[in-house]
Amino acid sequence: MELKHRDGLARICKFRGVETPNLMPVVNPNKIVISPRDMYERFGVNALITNSYIIWKTPRLRERALKEGLHNMLDFPGLIMTDSGTFQQHVYGDVEVTNKQIVEFQRDIGSDIGTMLDVFTEPHYTEEEVKNAIDETARRGKEAKKYKGNMLLAGPIQGSIYPKLRAYASKLMNRIDFDYYPIGGVVPLMEEYRYAEVVEAIIMAKKYLDPSKPVHLFGAGHPMFFPLAALLGVDFFDSAAYIKYARDNRLLFPQGTMYLKEIKYFPYYSPALENYTPEDLRAMPEEKRTKILAEHNLYMSMEEINRIKEAIIEERIWEYAEIRARQHPQLLRAYRKILKHRRFLEKFEPKSRKNAFFYTGEESMQRPFVLGIKRRLRQFDRHVILELPRPWSANLETIPKDAAVNTPFGLVPLELEDSYPFAQSEFPWEERKIVPEFKEIMSAKEFDIAKIKSIADYQFAKGAGDALFEGEIKIIKSKNTGKIRNVVVDGEHIASLRAEDGLFTLKLAGAKRLHRAFAFHKFRVIVNEDSAQFNRQGKNVFSKFVMGCDDSIRPGDEVLVVDREDNLVAIGKAIMNCWEMKKFSKGMCVKVREGVEHEKSRLVKK
Ligand code: GUN
Repeated sequence: MELKHRDGLARICKFRGVETPNLMPVVNPNKIVISPRDMYERFGVNALITNSYIIWKTPRLRERALKEGLHNMLDFPGLIMTDSGTFQQHVYGDVEVTNKQIVEFQRDIGSDIGTMLDVFTEPHYTEEEVKNAIDETARRGKEAKKYKGNMLLAGPIQGSIYPKLRAYASKLMNRIDFDYYPIGGVVPLMEEYRYAEVVEAIIMAKKYLDPSKPVHLFGAGHPMFFPLAALLGVDFFDSAAYIKYARDNRLLFPQGTMYLKEIKYFPYYSPALENYTPEDLRAMPEEKRTKILAEHNLYMSMEEINRIKEAIIEERIWEYAEIRARQHPQLLRAYRKILKHRRFLEKFEPKSRKNAFFYTGEESMQRPFVLGIKRRLRQFDRHVILELPRPWSANLETIPKDAAVNTPFGLVPLELEDSYPFAQSEFPWEERKIVPEFKEIMSAKEFDIAKIKSIADYQFAKGAGDALFEGEIKIIKSKNTGKIRNVVVDGEHIASLRAEDGLFTLKLAGAKRLHRAFAFHKFRVIVNEDSAQFNRQGKNVFSKFVMGCDDSIRPGDEVLVVDREDNLVAIGKAIMNCWEMKKFSKGMCVKVREGVEHEKSRLVKK
């Protein structure tokens, strides 16, 4: 997996030539309604899933697949994943194939990602039954690795409705080291709209699996669940909903599902419906109608994936998921369950986003992002509490010392008036003006200095403001807006204040000051010697060269790149959090802005 874009735990990655999040339509090789070639050429499908057990059991297909290979047989040039028969075990109670046989078969027909024969864990199983199923799955997983050849091997995470056993399965399967991790045993939960239990299963997997490996949701079903799954970092989905609903004369739409018999007007456009009215479809022979409905449903499912990807790129995935969760009360319940895990999710949250923080409802204030804000605000101890419309200081005659503004995020120092999200947020209520009496006031110059120090403390850590701006301070403002743009101390350019989010971009001189003031590991990404050479020349840091890092690093943070002796090598912006930097073996993890030509910065201090 190579990380391309991210928004929290949601991510766009490159994997084996396709982009994630990716929807693999389920193709039943015995009952093809939309041909894989059509899916590829007309629907933008570049990965699909089919069932190797069905192929294996059908002599005609088995022979063809072995002779021509799976890609030729299906006439599909994209990525093909195969399942193993475990789902048939769930539906029919048993299968005739062994783990070894089905893994070898998938390998021999040229599947790109094959699945071992895991043991399906039903929702009604006892904890003991589930634990036994997980242990047997792990045993078979080790066996499957021996027979997989060059094929990528998927190791499903079972665990039924027990979060503890989901965690246990994730750790166990992670140790076996598969190429790909589907989350299994969730179809019966999905069918009963038990989304809250599904999100718990996903979170346990994301917590304990290697973050650089793809995670797949087996049988993701209805596209209305995709946004929540993608929010939690699910990379692949498979779904047979497009065809299942078509057979049932139902149409998928972004706002829900409708029976054809109840539709008077199509509420959305889709190419499949272009030439028909609902009445035309009802009057059609069944086979033709099923195909049209399946095509429509597939368009709608693929479109949902596009909306999700666009939301990730726009860094609006939380808002999007929050709005989408209103489609069904059980989705909203699941979303609220997600918020209970905000401590874990906060580790993936940036300090600012491209777009303003939009409030969509009371859940918005429980987002993991808000938890991070509250933690960083805790360091400020203020006694004059105001309520003000924005821009805050423009609504005051004089600037009080020691003041904070009461906001939906908590008490925010007045100096953070231009910083994200305090200036970049939208709420559905009016801002009031309440100014209590205060004794001490600040001059405009004092307020500017308090501003740069408080922003640095908020952005980096308590004490960063003093470390960065100790000395003769010169503040350079924008001629157009009058806002602070650059800070020079003792003749050195320390940092620029970004217009978009009111947070700092460090310059080399600023980085050196932080490096000196904060002990090893704080703000550091430690790279090996091979990498250091290149980073000194301003080249980006690749995760495979990372030897260690500060656990508190979040995506988007300004970081200090150092070598093993803690010599400053470069400064840049983190693309990943520390855990991800250590685990990913492909791709960039720090976008370097400036390298430090050979200079022993530690020695300079001594
Ligand atoms: N398809 C839907 N659920 C599952 C599962 O738990 N395991 C496998 N192998 N396939 C599935």
